[in-house]
This record gives sequence, structure tokens and C-alpha cells, in this order.
Amino acid sequence: MTKPLIVTFAGGPEGLWTIESITAVTGESLATAQRLAVVEGEAHHAAQSSWRLRGATSNSRYADRHEATNLRSQQEGLNRSRATMAALIPIRKTVAWWDLAQDERREIFEERSRHMAIGTEYLPAIARRLHHCREFGEPFDFLTWFEFAPEDAPAFDDLVSRLRSTPEWQYVDWEVDIRLSRR
Ligand code: HEM
Repeated sequence: MTKPLIVTFAGGPEGLWTIESITAVTGESLATAQRLAVVEGEAHHAAQSSWRLRGATSNSRYADRHEATNLRSQQEGLNRSRATMAALIPIRKTVAWWDLAQDERREIFEERSRHMAIGTEYLPAIARRLHHCREFGEPFDFLTWFEFAPEDAPAFDDLVSRLRSTPEWQYVDWEVDIRLSRR
């Protein structure tokens, strides 16, 4: 895997993305903001942001060789010109999840919840990047980021509602769904 990339998501007056909505799915919401700046790289000091979330890309935990190859062959990258809609979904999982052994988490994540199998159905329309932030002492454990074209927004809604009804989501105790658009 390439070197981890540190990414800061800052809600405030500036940024490429217009915040269309901030919805608390589980737990409390984040403060309202007009725009979202996505800043790649180490230091980011946006003076006026109303909130800032930081994470980093990392090595894969769950995908086996076959799954990793399959995902790689179907996924598209970020910044496609037609992908003018995005979602930032910060997620925290419960203490019970983190107390499990890795094989138990994999069992819930894929064998019981089919996270990768379900997600793959939505490729290549939905582009994604997963950021880990538990190790940074951040409020959330993951910052999940998705980009798609307006015509694929209904499919994205379908995807999130399917994932939220899986056994994996019983271990999610904080989730905020932030929807974005850009010109
Ligand atoms: C576009 C379709 C999707 C695909 C193909 C997909 C695929 C994946 C894969 C492969 C991983 C595991 C990476 C690893 O091996 O460590 C993962 C993790 C994760 N995904 Fe998705 N995903 C999709 C959509 C979503 C959505 C819509 C959400 C949120 C609503 C989401 C939330 C997460 C979270 C929180 C993790 C981290 C799980 C953990 O490590 O405990 N994913 N996803």
C-alpha cells in the first residue's frame, strides 16, 4: 500500500464542497457549516472552521486477496469530473467492537454483514476513501468519504440503508451523515 495520507475535513466558511445537509443518524450531530474543505497533507490550520476532523488512509484490515483484487479492478478514483456529489460519514464503533478479536470482527463485517459484497454492487458509480482516526484520539473512529454523480444519489441512499441494517451496524454508536455538492 502507498504511504498513509493524512486528510483533514474542515466544516466552515471555506472549501470546495457546499454542505447540503448534516444528519445525525446515531448520537449527536455536528454544528452546521456552509462549506467543507478537504485538505490532504500534514498541517491544516483553518482559523475559522466550526469543526475539524482528521484521519489517515491505512492498510486494509479485512479484505482477503481475492476481495482486494476484485475491489481494485472495479473501483474508480476520487475527483472524477462528473462526481459532483459527495458524502462524509464519520463513524464511531462501540467498545464491544474494539474488544473483539480480529477474526471475530471479520466474521461480523463480511461473513454476516456482507459489507464488501454489498458495497461492490455499487462500483464503479460510488468512489470511496476510508480514513482511520481512532489512533489520533479523534472523536470518531472512521471518516468515510464517497463521491458520485447526481444520477447515482438514489443508489447511494440505497447502499447506506442496506449497510445500516446489517449486524455490523449494531456496533456503530455514533454516525453523522453529511451530504455535499460542488459545481
Ligand atoms: C461504495 C461501496 C462500498 C465499498 C465497496 C466498501 C468497501 C469497504 C472495504 C473493502 C472496507 C474494508 C477495508 C479493509 O480491508 O480494512 C470497508 C470498511 C469500512 N466501510 Fe465500506 N464500503 C462501501 C460503502 C460504505 C458506506 C456507504 C459506509 C458508511 C455508511 C461504509 C463504512 C465503512 C466503515 C466504517 C469501514 C471500516 C470498518 C472497520 O474497519 O471496522 N462503507 N468498506
